[in-house]
Amino acid sequence: MQADFVLLPGDGIGPEIVFQAKRVLTTVAAAFGHEFRMTEHLMGGCAIDACGNPLPDETLEACRRSHAVLLGAVGGPKWDDPRAKTRPEAGLLRIRRELGLFANLRPTKTWDELLDASPLRREIVQGTDILFVRELTGGIYFGDSGRRPHASGEEAWNVMTYSTGEIERVVRLAAQAARGRRGRLTMVDKANVLEASRLWRQVSESVVKNEFPDLQYNVVLVDAMAMHLISKPRDFDVVVTENLFGDILTDEASMLPGSLGLAPSASIGSGGPGLFEPIHGSAPDIAGQNVANPLATILAAAMMLRYSLQLEQEAQAIEAAVNKVLAAGGRTRDICGGGEYLSTTEMGDRVVQALA
Ligand code: NAD
Ligand code: IPM
Ligand code: MN
Repeated sequence: MQADFVLLPGDGIGPEIVFQAKRVLTTVAAAFGHEFRMTEHLMGGCAIDACGNPLPDETLEACRRSHAVLLGAVGGPKWDDPRAKTRPEAGLLRIRRELGLFANLRPTKTWDELLDASPLRREIVQGTDILFVRELTGGIYFGDSGRRPHASGEEAWNVMTYSTGEIERVVRLAAQAARGRRGRLTMVDKANVLEASRLWRQVSESVVKNEFPDLQYNVVLVDAMAMHLISKPRDFDVVVTENLFGDILTDEASMLPGSLGLAPSASIGSGGPGLFEPIHGSAPDIAGQNVANPLATILAAAMMLRYSLQLEQEAQAIEAAVNKVLAAGGRTRDICGGGEYLSTTEMGDRVVQALA
């Protein structure tokens, strides 16, 4: 089959890790007889530098015309001035919104071969298999915000808003995913304090009761969830939550298998092109050193083949290649436990070899 992918390498380690994912996609295309056309475009800080806009029209149009988009990461200290007119992250938020990507799937699964890389004890994390479904185009990220003078200087605000429809569609998607897994759905909120969470609780309960009575359903407050994730991660199957809680909990959960550098994500929802990316950022502290872990991005490319093109076999081939490399002891610096490690490029080489 023929497919058009837009690659958005972005900033920091973005270009290093996307390059490895590109090699993997090229290898898969050759092995399975597909033609993947991949074109690179600017988004983030690099786009601000080139044209003053973190999401140039040309990039957005190319994404709209594509089958799917693979992103590295955006942002970095160069663009962090709080008084700057725009920010790299604004481009990312805008593309999520423009493409209607209201559901962000963030799987967290441990690898037996890697259990020693986890900061937690083996008997706690072994067998963890959670699918987080993070709402991605609403909430405090997109609510009213601003600044105004205040007696003490200034005050600033960000508003969290959710509508019934926004909650229903993402809960429905999560519930459907739970049906195809172990049949358990957890909804995480802060309904003891936030009005928006109380609407989440009401709407979510009614969707599950009316449409998914077969699921085992529970609700957990977000502060307690942060604790349960560390103490009993195996108790969870699908976890659905609002935008900001999902952002924070999934970075926390990424440490269960051992590193942020292993966690991929798929942003979907509209039926149009999806956006696939690692959950981590541009890692300015290690950018340009060829030490970043490319596996999160490579696994995001597998999710791209699965969700955008229904190429399940090809997606599994990439995942199997990653498993094989990890089982053979292939480690980047973030998961080497102080021992020997592979560079970003060498890790890419290993995955490509395992696929071939
Ligand atoms: P980060 O995720 O970039 O890094 C956090 C820590 O994890 C760092 O120590 C980093 O070295 C490490 N890390 C991240 N990815 C890694 C990988 N693949 N391999 C090995 N180690 C890895 O978070 P941060 O430092 O808080 O943010 C840096 C910039 O990234 C900020 O500008 C932020 O806004 C941006 N950001 C972008 C995205 C995105 O584009 N989707 C996501 C998160 C953060
Ligand atoms: C992520 C990032 C983004 C988010 C930022 C960079 C806008 O942290 O993709 O998790 O908060 O959604
Ligand atoms: Mn994040």
